[in-house]
Amino acid sequence: LCEASDELKQKYLFRIPHSNEFADYVWPGMIVNPEKIISLNEIEFGPDDVVIASYPKSGTTWASEVLSAIAHEGNIDALKSIRMDERVPWIELDDKAWWIKFFYVWKNKMFSTGVDVRPAKKRICFTHLPLELLPTSILEGKCKLLYVARNPKDQAVSYFHFHRMARFLGLQTHTTWDEFFPLFCSGYLYCGSWFEHVLSYWKFTQNNPMAKFICYEDMKRDLMGEMESLEQFVGVPLSIEQRINVVKHCSFDSMKDNKMTNRNGVMLFNEKICKFMRKGIVGDWKNYFTVTQSEAFDELYKKKMEGSGLQFEFE
Ligand code: A3P
Repeated sequence: LCEASDELKQKYLFRIPHSNEFADYVWPGMIVNPEKIISLNEIEFGPDDVVIASYPKSGTTWASEVLSAIAHEGNIDALKSIRMDERVPWIELDDKAWWIKFFYVWKNKMFSTGVDVRPAKKRICFTHLPLELLPTSILEGKCKLLYVARNPKDQAVSYFHFHRMARFLGLQTHTTWDEFFPLFCSGYLYCGSWFEHVLSYWKFTQNNPMAKFICYEDMKRDLMGEMESLEQFVGVPLSIEQRINVVKHCSFDSMKDNKMTNRNGVMLFNEKICKFMRKGIVGDWKNYFTVTQSEAFDELYKKKMEGSGLQFEFE
């Protein structure tokens, strides 16, 4: 049940426009290419940089807004005047590809106003790269690294919907959940195996003062508490009042209605099929996993996670 056939893998690869298999991973060539990934090594990350890393659909955008708010010392007006993709750029995005400019034309001329922005205390960016492909200066601990993870069942469901609406993943509306499930379990997807991605970063972040590992479910349960430890991690403390304002600003409903964060109008996505800000809940997997799939996944999860000391909440 968890194994993807060669035929299914070929079908997946074929559906992704300009796909390639650099470094044993499948890449959506429309937006990420091997040259760009290799060239990232030339960037010298430093002590004022914080890199957010995650497997796609783990809450990257949410963590980005929270961290950006901290970096701006709780100045919500600054956040509201600059689009998130400018404040928190995606490092491996092939921004030289001509269609990127075209795809980034926002509806309603929603360009940043650039008004009232105090320079952020830290530079924040994000990546979905597997650990071994990170630029050397990040691996050497020259900057801070925050890894965001989410329980794999909800992550898989969110990723399934993302494949349906992201043009660079081929608008896979014909891929059924029953086809996506074994692809996810076997790790034959853009960014590879969820298990390998998460576990390698988990190991990297253990006993590493320059790195931190957080979970989507913890942010859902207690964003105030998570913020406090993030502030300590990046070294920018906020007052309780500022923290309360940031938590409000970063709620799902608020981010969904905020043009600077909701990614509406990004032409890379077909939002008629599905919004980027889709549901934002824990436990949606129950609406997709059959009992048999859930049991098979639990078994795989137990085998892969054994001895790691890492646990997720699924409810
Ligand atoms: P769903 O598809 O389950 O709704 P990423 O940013 O890594 O691509 O992750 C996207 C997922 O995070 C989506 O999950 C999205 O709705 C959810 N998300 C984004 N902002 C959120 C917020 N403020 N609160 C809760 N979930 C959020």
